[in-house]
Amino acid sequence: MNLLDEVRSLFRPALVAMSVDPAKIDDYVAMVKPAANADHGDYQANMSMALSKTLGKKPTDVAQAIIAALPANSLVDSATVAGPGFINIRLKTDWLVEQLQQIATDERLGVPTLASPKTFVIDYSGPNVAKPLHVGHLRSTIIGDSITRLLRFLGHTVISDNHLGDWGTQFGILLYGYKNLLDREAYEQNPVQELARLYKAVRILIKEAGGEDEEAIANPIAEKCRHETAKLHAGDEENLRLWNEFMPACLSELHSTYEKLGILTFNHELGESAYNPELPEIVAEQLAKGIAFDSQGAVVIPNAKGNIPQTKEELEKEDPPALIRKRDGAFTYTTTDLATVRHRVNVFHADVLLYVVDFRQSLHFKTLFAQAKRWGYTNVEFEHLSFGSVLGADGKPFGARKGAAPGLVELLEESLVLANKKYWESYKSRKEQGHDVPDLDETEISKIAENVGIGAVKYADLSQNRTSNYKFDPEKMLATDGNTSTYMQFAFARCRGIFRKANEPEERFRTNPPKVILGQPTERALALQLLRLPNALETAAAEYMPHHLTAYLWDVAKSYSSFNEQCPVLKAETPELRDSRLLLVDLTARVIHLTLDLLGIKTVERM
Ligand code: ARG
Repeated sequence: MNLLDEVRSLFRPALVAMSVDPAKIDDYVAMVKPAANADHGDYQANMSMALSKTLGKKPTDVAQAIIAALPANSLVDSATVAGPGFINIRLKTDWLVEQLQQIATDERLGVPTLASPKTFVIDYSGPNVAKPLHVGHLRSTIIGDSITRLLRFLGHTVISDNHLGDWGTQFGILLYGYKNLLDREAYEQNPVQELARLYKAVRILIKEAGGEDEEAIANPIAEKCRHETAKLHAGDEENLRLWNEFMPACLSELHSTYEKLGILTFNHELGESAYNPELPEIVAEQLAKGIAFDSQGAVVIPNAKGNIPQTKEELEKEDPPALIRKRDGAFTYTTTDLATVRHRVNVFHADVLLYVVDFRQSLHFKTLFAQAKRWGYTNVEFEHLSFGSVLGADGKPFGARKGAAPGLVELLEESLVLANKKYWESYKSRKEQGHDVPDLDETEISKIAENVGIGAVKYADLSQNRTSNYKFDPEKMLATDGNTSTYMQFAFARCRGIFRKANEPEERFRTNPPKVILGQPTERALALQLLRLPNALETAAAEYMPHHLTAYLWDVAKSYSSFNEQCPVLKAETPELRDSRLLLVDLTARVIHLTLDLLGIKTVERM
């Protein structure tokens, strides 16, 4: 049950009864929101101000009229006019009690399964293999993983596909390195390590021969690397054999990073190479259909507007066209992505295609989606879920400082070491101060520190509106207070601690829940938050924005903390009250656990 929708659904008939323009009713109904200040009630509606003009009445009169027209219902306790025409709504406490009873026995904690699920294909991570994994891919991986979990939980079919960059210039670099600089013995002992060394060594040679740009025409080493790539693409036997030899090593390295990050296994990893055989035919088809055009020996597709601007003046006003075949016959990133669209729709039967990719590729996706529609894919929804940069401590994007950018693996290691150190410190100081700290051995502590460290990295990322940039700051992300994963993990462990101390099996509270008593304001506020779970999930999914989940967790954690301060659980005055509060504690733990799980973050029973 979506609490907000329930409240909103009362306003619809009221507005209809007042002869409000039917086309605008949805917009007005959307003006019912959770109250920002609990003193004003549980929900607030502010459409009276907007309606006053069209209805020719004072806002307060409009508000009165809306309240009078609300249909009979069992959830609203009071609706009152406040200030210039706000409607403050307070829900019936008995009704909240009933709802809590229901979600307690529900494995899904009141989150409904969808009536009409869709098939999503979600494209995320997409690193360029054979290059050291870059921190920029961290965001795509973490955000994509969370969106996948969320949409699946809501009941959609979600097919995840890792569009690996496994066919690009970086292989030319490796092939050149292998042929010229290989330390055979090192390669036989540890291929990944030796390939990484070769990659770095060749990059240095390229730099020495004329700068960082591997596409530079005048750079003799870069030229040789490009030649190796071209031979690979042309089907050169030796290069293909080597590619097949390198790939398993590169992939296993990548997968071990994914494992460390604790992300879901991909359903598919159809990299760029998988589509290579289809590319000539795709270009031919688009030319034949008259949606791609010859341009001085190359083949281009129009920009999203459907134009092919050519002159400098035209290009100042509009996006450029995109190349799908270069003059030398080479295909491009765009050609491959056209092939992915076809595959995902025809073979995976996608209703929606999601691409979790850096904002720098906005133009690429804009052009791609428009072309896919011209190609005939009109019944598919396309979404580029763009995200901002990860910034270093200096506030500059990691990617902008080529060469000096730390790899993803190094950053993760750094966070883990810090998590370990911080957790030990907090553990010892809590023990010294006589807090109720569990006796944990070394392995348990490092297990906790690992969950804390990985959780911190993910939460710091996911708690940002994904379109913003954010600073990678291990100290801040590992803070034990505030809107961080550590804080949520602590709140969860605290709930579990109460149950351990109570020596109560939580099963009783899930199969035969006691009646909740919402006598204290903090109890009621916590209850209301717990009932808002479906809302948070649905909003996050509708916008593909995981930060709605962390914002919700933060609200729950704050309510829980106030509840904890004011409402003794195990020492409650009566057994009924103790039971009631234990149920709230169990529900809090379950809500935190589920929401963190949808963010890909693990909880621990004791900390
Ligand atoms: N390999 C690309 C990069 O690192 C990302 C791939 C994104 N997915 C896609 N279908 N284009 O920039």
